[in-house]
Amino acid sequence: MEFRAKAVSWDDIERWCDEVRKQIVNTFSPDLIIGLSRGGLVPARILSDSLWIKDLLSIKTEHWGITATQDGKAVLRDPGVLNIKGKRVLIVDDITDTGQSMKLAHEFVMKQNPAEVKTATMLHITRSSFVPDFYGEEITEKNWAWFIFPWNVHEDVDNLLSRVLRKESSLEQVTELLQDNFELVIPQKHLKKVLDDFVTAGKLVLKSGKFRLPEKAVVQ
Ligand code: ADE
Repeated sequence: MEFRAKAVSWDDIERWCDEVRKQIVNTFSPDLIIGLSRGGLVPARILSDSLWIKDLLSIKTEHWGITATQDGKAVLRDPGVLNIKGKRVLIVDDITDTGQSMKLAHEFVMKQNPAEVKTATMLHITRSSFVPDFYGEEITEKNWAWFIFPWNVHEDVDNLLSRVLRKESSLEQVTELLQDNFELVIPQKHLKKVLDDFVTAGKLVLKSGKFRLPEKAVVQ
C-alpha cells in the first residue's frame, strides 16, 4: 500500500467545528477570524456563523507538492495589509500535519501587532511542530492518513488515481483500486459522480463503460 487515505464526511466537519466552537465559546472572544485558504475556508466560515463573528478574512498558504507528499514547503502568498492591529484574532485551518502552514500564518499575523492570537483546526496530527489552541480531533502518528475533505475530493481523487490507474477500469475496478492501494472507501454512487466529473473535465477518458487516464496524464 502506498499510504492510507480516508474520506471525511460533512458530518465529521460539523462535529469537529462544533467541538472547536465549544472549546472557544467560554474561553476566547475573537474580534475576527482569519481562514487559511484554501483548506481552512469552509471551517472558518462555519465558525464565523456559530461564534457570531462576522469579520472573516483569509490569507493563502501555498504548497509546492501534491496530495500526501511531505516535501511540499509552505509559503505565504502576499497577503497585503490586514487591519488587525490591537484585535483578538482566531486563525482557522483544516489540519495541522507538519504544522508548517499554521506556523507561517501565525508568525505573519503576530507581526501585525494584534492584541491576541489563537489558532484552531479540525484535525491535529500529533507529529505537528505546531499545536493549535483548539482542535476537533487529535490523530496519532500511527493513525496518519491523507484526509480527503469534502471540498478537496476532485483534486485528491485525481492525484490518487493518477498513481494507480494503469489500465482501462470499470467503476467497480476503480473502487477496488482505491481500496487496495489506499484503504480508501468512497461510496460507489459518490465515486461515480466524481469520475463522471473527471470525464467532463478531460481528466479521464470513458470508453465502453471503462475509465482510463488520458495519455499525457500517466505518472511514472
Ligand atoms: N494537508 C496536510 N496534511 C494533510 C493530511 N494528512 N490530510 C489532508 N490534507 C493535508
